[in-house]
Amino acid sequence: MADSTELRQTLAAVRAELTAIPRLDAKALEAAEVRLLGRKQGALTEIMKRLPGLESEEKRAIGSEANTLKQELEAVFAARHAALDAEALSEGARGLDLTMPGRSRVRGGVHPVTRVVEEIVSIFHGLGFARATGPEAETEWYNFGALNFPPDHPAMDMHDTLYLDVPDRRTKEERRRNRTSGISAPHERRDLLDRRDREEGRWLMRTHTSPVQIRVMLTEPPPLRVVIPGWAYRKDTFDASHAPVFAQIEGLAVDEGISFVDLKATLSHFAREFFGSKTVVRFRPSFFPFTEPSAEMDVTCGVCGGTGCPACKGTGWMEILGAGMVHPTVLVNCGLDPERYTGFAFGMGPGRIAMNRYGITDIRLLYESDMRFLQQFTG
Ligand code: DAH
Repeated sequence: MADSTELRQTLAAVRAELTAIPRLDAKALEAAEVRLLGRKQGALTEIMKRLPGLESEEKRAIGSEANTLKQELEAVFAARHAALDAEALSEGARGLDLTMPGRSRVRGGVHPVTRVVEEIVSIFHGLGFARATGPEAETEWYNFGALNFPPDHPAMDMHDTLYLDVPDRRTKEERRRNRTSGISAPHERRDLLDRRDREEGRWLMRTHTSPVQIRVMLTEPPPLRVVIPGWAYRKDTFDASHAPVFAQIEGLAVDEGISFVDLKATLSHFAREFFGSKTVVRFRPSFFPFTEPSAEMDVTCGVCGGTGCPACKGTGWMEILGAGMVHPTVLVNCGLDPERYTGFAFGMGPGRIAMNRYGITDIRLLYESDMRFLQQFTG
């Protein structure tokens, strides 16, 4: 039979510890909790284990006292835990200086070339032109052949063009037949539209955005009105006026009855929208294999207003784009009937336009990503 006196003594001893708990530190608190309330060998657990050996009267009395004590202990332990947690929190906050200035954020901005591209695209958008894009790695057929470049055109020289090391899987005969292009007779059109002919030549980084004209005409029926912003690549040394990678915007309109008047009206409207209503434009005859007739368009120099300055080399004019009526052979190469459809195309360099607008004299500044330069355009 268990000794009730001994159990009562243990109960009293545990109760005596109650008052010390609110002063224990975290470590001592944990130890006391295990010692008094531990489920395996805690003092109260020991008492509970021995209850069954008592007489029923004693069992009830001691059992109920033990339960009350257990609840009191749990409450005091919980209160001490909460107090210690709160103390730790305010301790951590002590090193916090709320008066310190916040870390400033770097404010990003749109790159000046991107800004010019978006503005130009949006002016043409207002005229009903949609945006189109195409791949930067092309085959010779898209970049030159379909655009009516003769097979020995100097632009195709290794010195001018960045060729890619992709094996040419065409047979000798295929290579001879479709050396580069320049295939113009309508009866040969099927050959040109053959996927293997188009996609199995020498590969290169496109030297202009004009190949996307071909891709658009091959995939969509007229009426077509698109502007095509993108990057073009040439084997140029990076100097004040040349970049081996540069931005271009191509334009193309193909429909029934499009004439040179539409070309002039569209591009003049664009120039006045972009450079200001007083801008004067002039067209000079030019040559491109993919347009006939071809022209270059100049606008009054944005730096001097037409009086002549170093930026325009004293001419008062700034050349901003090449343009022309889409060559009938190009239409044929894309499966379009030149008797039914005509069109105009143009290509311009937004990098050059940005330089003129912001008075930048070295093209490298646009592509070096120097934050001190670019931050001037974050507004
Ligand atoms: N592709 C020409 C170049 O890179 C620019 C150009 C000229 C594009 C006349 C055209 C065009 O669409 O009609 O120099």
